[in-house]
Amino acid sequence: MSDPTTRTEAGDTAPPPSGTPHVRLRGLVKRFGGVVALRGVDLDIARGEVLGLVGDNGAGKSTLIKVLTGVHPADEGTIELNGATVEMDHPDRAREFGIETIYQDLALVPTFDLPTNFFLGRELTRPLLGGLLQVTDKARMREIATNVVRDQVGLAIGNPYAPAATMSGGQRQAVAIGRALYEEAELVIMDEPTAALGVEEQEKVLDIIRRLKADGVTIVMISHTLDHVFAVADRIAVMHNGELHAVKATSEVTRTEVVGLIMGSQLHDDAA
Ligand SMILES: Nc1ncnc2c1ncn2[C@@H]1O[C@H](COP(=O)(O)OP(=O)(O)OP(=O)(O)O)[C@@H](O)[C@H]1O
Ligand SMILES: [Mg+2]
Repeated sequence: MSDPTTRTEAGDTAPPPSGTPHVRLRGLVKRFGGVVALRGVDLDIARGEVLGLVGDNGAGKSTLIKVLTGVHPADEGTIELNGATVEMDHPDRAREFGIETIYQDLALVPTFDLPTNFFLGRELTRPLLGGLLQVTDKARMREIATNVVRDQVGLAIGNPYAPAATMSGGQRQAVAIGRALYEEAELVIMDEPTAALGVEEQEKVLDIIRRLKADGVTIVMISHTLDHVFAVADRIAVMHNGELHAVKATSEVTRTEVVGLIMGSQLHDDAA
C-alpha cells in the first residue's frame, strides 16, 4: 500500500513557474462512487512548458486530465486558466479555452474518414440556394484536413476517404494532432500518445511535441515510457494513489528517482 497521504512537501516540488501560470489547479477532488480518484490535487502548469505526467496504473492521471477538460467535472476544487477561475463543466468549454486533448484510442471515430474526423463537431459549411441552406463543404474540409496533416504534422494520408479504422495508430494520432494545430490550441494534452505506436511513429510524435513547444504551446503528456518523458518534458509530475506526489524539473531528477516516486517513495538526497 501507499504511504500515508503526505501532500507534496516543499522539498519535493520544483520551484513554481514564475508569473501567472497557464493552468492553476487547486484542491481537485474526484470521486467515482466509493473510489476517490483525485484526493486534492494542486498543480501549476506554466505557459509554454512541456509537463510530463506519470504514475502507476490507476494513479489518477487520466482522471486529472478529464477534470481539467470538463469530461468529469470535479467534486471539489478550482481550475484557473491565465489567472481566472473557470467552470469546466463540459468538454466544449475546454475547446473554447483553446484546450485540445488527444487520446490514444478515442482520438477518432473509427467509421469516419479523415476530413469528417478532423472537423468533427466543427464542420465547415457553404451556402446553397443563395444562402437559404447551409451544407457541409466536403471539398474544403478534405483539402484543409489533408494539407494540415501532410504539411504541418508531416504525415501523408494516402486515401482521405478511408475510415479511421483502417489507419495506423500513427496516422490516427497525426490526424488528432493536426486537428489541435488547426484549432491553434494553446494547451495540448496527450494521454499516452506514443503507446502502441511503431518506433518511427513514436519519434514523430515526440518531434511534434518539440515543435508545438517551440510555437509556445503548453503541453501535458501522460506516458508510461519514461524515455519519452525525459526526451521532451521540462518538468515531471508524479501521481500516486490519487495525489500529486512530486513535481520535479526533468534536469534535476533521475529515472531511478522517478520510478521510485511512481511507486510511492519519498525523495531522498542520496537517491541515485
Ligand atoms: N469513469 C470511471 N468510473 C469509475 N471509476 C473510475 C472511472 N475513471 C477512473 N476511475 C477510477 O479512478 C482511478 C484513477 O483512474 P485513472 O484512469 O485516472 O488512472 P490512470 O492514472 O490514468 O491509469 P492508467 O495509467 O492505467 O491509464 C482508478 O481507480 C479507476 O478505476
Ligand atoms: Mg489513464
